[in-house]
Amino acid sequence: MASTALGKRARQHWLTNDSYDPSPIDTAKARRAPLKQTRAARSTATPLGPSHENEFEAAVSGVEPLFPSLNYDKNASTKKFSPLRAKKADVENIPPILRTPRHRDAIQKAPITPRHKISVVGKPMTPRSQPGTPSSRIQGDSVASVLGAARAMFARGSAPGKLIGREREREKLATYLGERIEGGEGGCLYISGPPGTGKSALLNETLEGVERNGAAGVKKTYVNCMVVKDPKGIYARLLEEFWDADVMGDVESKDGMDELERLFVSPQQGKRGVYVVVLDEIDHLLTKDQEILYSIFEWSLAKNSNLILIGIANALDLTDKFLPRLKARNLKPQLLPFQPYDAKQIAEVITSRLRSLLPEDAKDKYYVPYVHPAAIQLCARKVAAHTGDLRKAFDMCRRGLELLDSELKEKARKEAAAKAFTSSEEYSSSVGMTPLAVAIERLPLGEARLNHNLPNTSRRSASPTPIPQTPSKTKITISYDPLTGPRVTIAHIARISSTTFGGSALSRVKCLNLQQKAVLCACCVHETRKGQAPTMRELYASYGGVCKRDRLLARLSMVEFRDVVGGLESAGVVGLSTVGAVGQRTPSKKNGGAGGMDERRVSCLVREGELRKEVEWVGALGRMFME
Ligand SMILES: Nc1ncnc2c1ncn2[C@@H]1O[C@H](COP(=O)(O)OP(=O)(O)OP(=O)(O)O)[C@@H](O)[C@H]1O
Ligand SMILES: [Mg+2]
Repeated sequence: MASTALGKRARQHWLTNDSYDPSPIDTAKARRAPLKQTRAARSTATPLGPSHENEFEAAVSGVEPLFPSLNYDKNASTKKFSPLRAKKADVENIPPILRTPRHRDAIQKAPITPRHKISVVGKPMTPRSQPGTPSSRIQGDSVASVLGAARAMFARGSAPGKLIGREREREKLATYLGERIEGGEGGCLYISGPPGTGKSALLNETLEGVERNGAAGVKKTYVNCMVVKDPKGIYARLLEEFWDADVMGDVESKDGMDELERLFVSPQQGKRGVYVVVLDEIDHLLTKDQEILYSIFEWSLAKNSNLILIGIANALDLTDKFLPRLKARNLKPQLLPFQPYDAKQIAEVITSRLRSLLPEDAKDKYYVPYVHPAAIQLCARKVAAHTGDLRKAFDMCRRGLELLDSELKEKARKEAAAKAFTSSEEYSSSVGMTPLAVAIERLPLGEARLNHNLPNTSRRSASPTPIPQTPSKTKITISYDPLTGPRVTIAHIARISSTTFGGSALSRVKCLNLQQKAVLCACCVHETRKGQAPTMRELYASYGGVCKRDRLLARLSMVEFRDVVGGLESAGVVGLSTVGAVGQRTPSKKNGGAGGMDERRVSCLVREGELRKEVEWVGALGRMFME
């Protein structure tokens, strides 16, 4: 039998066996019982020399030169080496180095499975997820919001834009102001109405109109009484705005009252022009000491007055009930009550706001983007049946948009994940690789090489098919067309209204998450201790203290914190003091951007005892009330 026809081990056996008998039976035996080599035996073998290597390789492949030491006659082409024909002595001459096997020895080689954990600084080398499953790689934040503009439109503190309706009130206000400014005379107007009925917004709009028309000699100021700690602060504020020390001399009286009286009630009032003072949330000045309020009202209603005082509050009978001295002196402010909005008016406001977001060249000007008309109707009816507060309606729309937004994001995430998975499967089947091999291909080059745990795929050098990439760190963009995109539906609004209007304040507290509860408790505790509602900034500091001390909660950023407070307000468990625009200092970014959000006061609308009972089982929150 030719040596090439023998198995490797049989050949080896034949070449190394000292008691060689070239009988076919033994050869067959050797074939049946291949030589087993221990590691120790192998280690004693002499290494194969380069010359012998050549000889052996040539012998097994049947190519010349054959073993010259085995009586090989170079010239006799027919007389080829045959192990069966070889003599025993010749065989003994074969150096033992031939024992070293030429094939790869699995035992000798370093084990493939590492005995220790291979660690590479940085990313894990073994993919932890299924190839192509991008769920862990796509971060929620990477999905940009497509409803941002619509949401911002309904956010608290957003620019009011043009007011819809309120024609009667607008006209009355414009007439009243126009007549007084033209005649250079003072007067007093008291605007009343429930929250969110457009009192402040309409007044601001009207005064902006006065300014635009350039009425000469009109000086105006706007004071939100909610942020005035001491009623006497009003005097200081008015002097700061109107008193020109260079022309009028120094303020000599203790509180500036004399100077203000001279300024507003003067025989030459026509020459100095008119002062317009707006006192919003005037009911916050109704303290024990009402002298200040009386004096301001009396100046505006005096005979020679050049002060136009406009007071705004919710109570219809504030002047009659709390300032009876005015009636006794026959000084009667003019009243302008604002009725709560009905469902039709609310729906109109929401619809026109949404339509303002349509592109200029939109064909259908009557289409309502983002919120379905039926959903608007439901929202309007719910709010009108409750308080008629437009802010509540805006809150519901905003929360509806938030719900829709999160649904769109979730859908986009799922689609991206499915797409990445499909492309991974397609790719793996097109190149005949397993999904795991595809995952390895996707690893950075160094990672795949370093990780001995992974099967070797590097032999497939240049792949003709480009490897699909998982959308790691890529932003998922949702394409949304306001004219055809999905809208907030009745179902969304129904869900929201059940939490907004359903049950008592306490039942709404139960629905809050831990962060919201912590902010609410911090607000309640601050208010009880200091006797005054905290500003947004103060509340953030108190809340931050709780987070730091108890380590139960991760402290939110200021932006997130504002959102939480907004959510609490929508749930009706806190109240935010409104900030008007007229006469206000330009809000800086430091103060929370538009509207000086961080200077607003946040008051807790849930009773301390009830809140305490609700949260006492949460250690960190319960402790806040005990300190
Ligand atoms: N007719 C309207 N058209 C459009 N937006 C309106 C209208 N009326 C009110 N709004 C909006 O509703 C919100 C609340 O209005 P506003 O602050 O004027 O209420 P308010 O009557 O002053 O309430 P409060 O008594 O609580 O101060 C504002 O964002 C305002 O822009
Ligand atoms: Mg107001």
